Amino acid sequence: MEAISYAILTLALVATLALVSKIFFPQSQKLKFPPGPKPWPIIGNLNHIGPLPHQSLHKLSQIYGPIMQLKFGSYPVVIASSAEMARQFLRTHDHIFASRPQTAAGKYTTYNYSNLTWAPHGPYWRQGRKIYLSHLFSSKILDSVEYIRVEENRAFLSRLCALSGKPTMLKEHLSRLTLTIISRIVLGKKYFSVSESESSIVTLEEFQEMLDELFLLNGVLNIGDWIPWVQFFDLQGFVKRMKALKKKFDRFHDHVFDEHRAKKEGVKDFVPKDMVDLLLQLAEDPDIEVKLNYDSVKGFTQDLIAGGTDTSATTVEWAMSELMKQPLLIEKATEELDRVIGRGRWVEEKDIPQLPYIEAIMKETMRKHPVAVMLAPHLALEDCNVGGYDICKGTRVFINTWSMGREPSQWDAPDEFNPDRFLGRSIDVKGQNFELLPFGSGRRMCPGYSLGLKMIRSSLANLLHGFNWKLPGNMKPEDLSMEEVFGLATPRKFPLVAVVEPRLPAHLY
Ligand code: HEM
Repeated sequence: MEAISYAILTLALVATLALVSKIFFPQSQKLKFPPGPKPWPIIGNLNHIGPLPHQSLHKLSQIYGPIMQLKFGSYPVVIASSAEMARQFLRTHDHIFASRPQTAAGKYTTYNYSNLTWAPHGPYWRQGRKIYLSHLFSSKILDSVEYIRVEENRAFLSRLCALSGKPTMLKEHLSRLTLTIISRIVLGKKYFSVSESESSIVTLEEFQEMLDELFLLNGVLNIGDWIPWVQFFDLQGFVKRMKALKKKFDRFHDHVFDEHRAKKEGVKDFVPKDMVDLLLQLAEDPDIEVKLNYDSVKGFTQDLIAGGTDTSATTVEWAMSELMKQPLLIEKATEELDRVIGRGRWVEEKDIPQLPYIEAIMKETMRKHPVAVMLAPHLALEDCNVGGYDICKGTRVFINTWSMGREPSQWDAPDEFNPDRFLGRSIDVKGQNFELLPFGSGRRMCPGYSLGLKMIRSSLANLLHGFNWKLPGNMKPEDLSMEEVFGLATPRKFPLVAVVEPRLPAHLY
């Protein structure tokens, strides 16, 4: 009896509170959220999300429109799937959506949000971007390390040439190329060994595995991030893997930093030679605006290595895959290369403006296969109205660039890979044309885009210039799968295997 009275009393109390809140906070009733499927208790709409979340969300956007709201577990999530909506979030209201949600990946794999990618909006992040833009990505500094890109590109092309006639997994070689370039720029040298005669802290294979794991764990849908009360159980085992990965990176960073400090010991007026030198120097600077500690140096170093390697290699692998499906496009590209460069030399960075077809292939690849299919998650810092809908503070926002590249109002026959669509059009990839945003736009736009573009353009141009391409055995272009796997970068499910034959004079390789 007593229990029933309690229940009645509780119900009466809840009803009274609801009435009071309706009277005193009438606007909460008037909020107009973006359309979307009805969420279930606890899981929200997670049941709608398959192994390729960007594709699941693309399908939903065809029902609910270019801005929709879902619930992932306990959190509201807004998905923008059109150029206009992307403009609203990344330009009109950029200052409100310039933060990142806190996730287990940010906490455990990036030293408690000490890198740039996961850092919340604020002075630490602002200072980090300034350091990157002025000490690494300025055109003067990028020009000063062009020789590294040239040396490594040549070594990469020679390695491929040595494998001519044999089925070769292109991605392995592309990843080694980009990883070596970034390592030399950021760490001063490779720090991984490729043969048994070399001794190093890790082998190339181990280091590549660490980076693959880092990418995977930063892209996964970790249930604990969305349903906080199950966080503790680590149901998918991702947090355990993140902690194990952190230990491996710790060992790597400690070794790299010890070597850098030893090099500097006793040297008066030491001048930094690479990004690690500079970051270690900044960490000792008492006058710096926001104090950097050892974890910051680790976070930033890792950010640069991870951000720069897989993204560029994945893009080139997609480009070559699409081209192998349409050999006529390879003919068009080599016709341009023969005409502009000739068969007597390699393509140099300064030649790129004279190669519009290569540029068009790159843009078309970024339209159809943007590696960051939903950019990185953005977080609403305040309540805001976007496109007539209310978005509450704390909402997580994804910009579905994969979907935007398939918007029929922007692109004719969007499922076709057709570089010609970019010829004679001034549309670029640097965050100004909202229908094509492979690097994002606004405050959180990729700071490394110019380096990424340089690496992609010259490797792609020289792969086409230097080799004839065939699929292995009796494989036909239509047999080549174009399936994807989801992660922070979205690579091919089945790596491209191809057979190359040199097309330039032997002395060039
Ligand atoms: C094809 C090459 C690349 C692509 C497609 C790419 C794409 C992206 C995207 C989409 C974002 C997130 C933008 C957003 O949240 O709105 C991003 C952020 C970032 N990228 Fe890149 N990126 C590439 C190359 C690079 C390179 C070469 C580096 C550095 C060496 C780099 C470092 C970063 C960093 C540090 C961030 C975080 C920025 C922040 O949160 O403020 N990326 N990139």
